[in-house]
Amino acid sequence: MSRDSIQFIRQGRVRRVRDFAPRTTLLDWLRLEERSTGTKEACAEGDCGACTVVLARRRGGRVTYEPVNSCIAFLGQIDGAELITIEDLSRDGVLHPVQAALASGHGSQCGFCTPGIVMSLFAHYHRVSEVMNPVAVSREKIADVLAGNLCRCTGYRPIVDAAVASLAAPVADGFSQTDPERLARLRDLEDGEDVFVGDETSFFAAPADEESLAALLEKHPDATIVAGATDVGLWVTKKLAALPKIVHVGRVAGLDAVADTAETLTLGAALPLGRATPLLGRLDPDVDELMRRFGSTQVRTSGTVGGNIANGSPIGDLAPVLISLGATVELRKGDRVRTLPLERFFLAYGKQDREPGEFVRRLVVPKPSAETRLRVFKITKRMDEDISAVMGAFAVTLRHDRIASARVAFGGMAGVPKRAVAVEAALTGARLADPATWRAAAQKIGEDFSPLTDQRGTAAYRLQVAKTIVVKALAELAGVPGTATRVRPRASAGERPNDREAAHVAS
Ligand SMILES: Cc1cc2nc3c(=O)[nH]c(=O)nc-3n(C[C@H](O)[C@H](O)[C@H](O)COP(=O)(O)OP(=O)(O)OC[C@H]3O[C@@H](n4cnc5c(N)ncnc54)[C@H](O)[C@@H]3O)c2cc1C
Ligand code: FES
Ligand code: FES
Repeated sequence: MSRDSIQFIRQGRVRRVRDFAPRTTLLDWLRLEERSTGTKEACAEGDCGACTVVLARRRGGRVTYEPVNSCIAFLGQIDGAELITIEDLSRDGVLHPVQAALASGHGSQCGFCTPGIVMSLFAHYHRVSEVMNPVAVSREKIADVLAGNLCRCTGYRPIVDAAVASLAAPVADGFSQTDPERLARLRDLEDGEDVFVGDETSFFAAPADEESLAALLEKHPDATIVAGATDVGLWVTKKLAALPKIVHVGRVAGLDAVADTAETLTLGAALPLGRATPLLGRLDPDVDELMRRFGSTQVRTSGTVGGNIANGSPIGDLAPVLISLGATVELRKGDRVRTLPLERFFLAYGKQDREPGEFVRRLVVPKPSAETRLRVFKITKRMDEDISAVMGAFAVTLRHDRIASARVAFGGMAGVPKRAVAVEAALTGARLADPATWRAAAQKIGEDFSPLTDQRGTAAYRLQVAKTIVVKALAELAGVPGTATRVRPRASAGERPNDREAAHVAS
């Protein structure tokens, strides 16, 4: 069965929409069609958060409230959700507690960022109040929550004060994770039907299962696959791409599945990064910190694991980590499924080993052995919400005082994420605690890479940084404290501040 409209809830009513161009963004629909102009547009590239709205979905028997950047989300992606915007929070003229706290605490000046900030905090309100995790109201946590909301004039001190005040003593606001009525309404939208809006030349499609997805992509190998659209959305807003045929993978049953065994972690391609975070974070505190710094909450809500690999970006954050762990990627075209080592997926800049009509199905990540130690360093111009200039991942397996094997991978050093094979060779069999080992390995970076100069860094800078983090990784593994050279200390496993909340969000 196939449906020729998308359906979602807005302001208590089920809306069915079929008359829209495939590339219509959620923000354009809201502002131009609905005239809901409370949601603002500023950067139109997912960076500033002015356009933040919240999508409520049924997951694990509860309602989750998650913030997304509507400027780079396609309208069709909200099928099955309840759309909540800034217009929907106050009740009978009474402001939502987050709004009231911002107003009384002088957390707004020109007000352009304020709707987005309110929506991010509103989403967090429904984690904090229902998870009861005191850490989730710390100033540090609020700063994380607002990493994707840029305020240019107020300054963050009063904003964070207001957030802490409203979140510390939450009151009922008409939204909840367990509201049976809302749960029932959302369940009613889950009809398991394929969505196909448009005609054979121009459509927005959202298949409900893998068979339909595979068949549709075989028929339309020229279609654009969209997962979270945190990359593809920008093709529309910044490059004005036409994108006549869009195949959205976010509704495909099981494509976001997770299998967590003692040996491997398997992540479905459509798994959002936010839900992957606690699973990946458990591998190592450095991976946890990497995920905390991956875009913003909004970007991690929408962006997926598969999108981060399929985009082939030389500066994507997951690839170096997963390559260092020896991950494999599974692809499907029609009935044919094939698997290859992740590093072989990236052929050259902008070119991956993926045929038209083929899609990424899942990633299988071997868990590090008891003798393997990880280190991950993301080097950016800005601490939060920034793309890597250089990214290094190290998986070093020890035998007594020697390095039995090493897998080292870098992003930002070539046209693709790539292993540093000369560095690895220099390390294999060497004594870990010997600084001569560290320096010898670092010298090999120049054999492995000839980086480019671009706006994120010069070739010379990248080479120097990469050498530095080789030494830093090895020195730390040998026991030299990293405290003086880390902005945030490396947490020990189990002590990560967001552990409890993250586990809840993942469920
Ligand atoms: C503000 C902002 C900050 C960001 N910060 C970071 C960051 O810190 N680190 C980082 O690595 N990236 C970052 N990104 C980039 C982006 O968020 C990630 O690459 C994200 O993982 C992309 O996933 P997606 O689901 O949104 O992909 P989409 O935009 O939906 O798709 C990306 C590409 O993958 C293809 N694709 C998607 N899924 C599949 C599939 N299953 N099979 C085949 N092809 C598929 C699409 O056709 C497209 O070519 C940022 C982006 C923004 C806008
Ligand atoms: S307008 Fe800036 S994130 Fe959407
Ligand atoms: S109040 Fe003006 S941008 Fe935040």
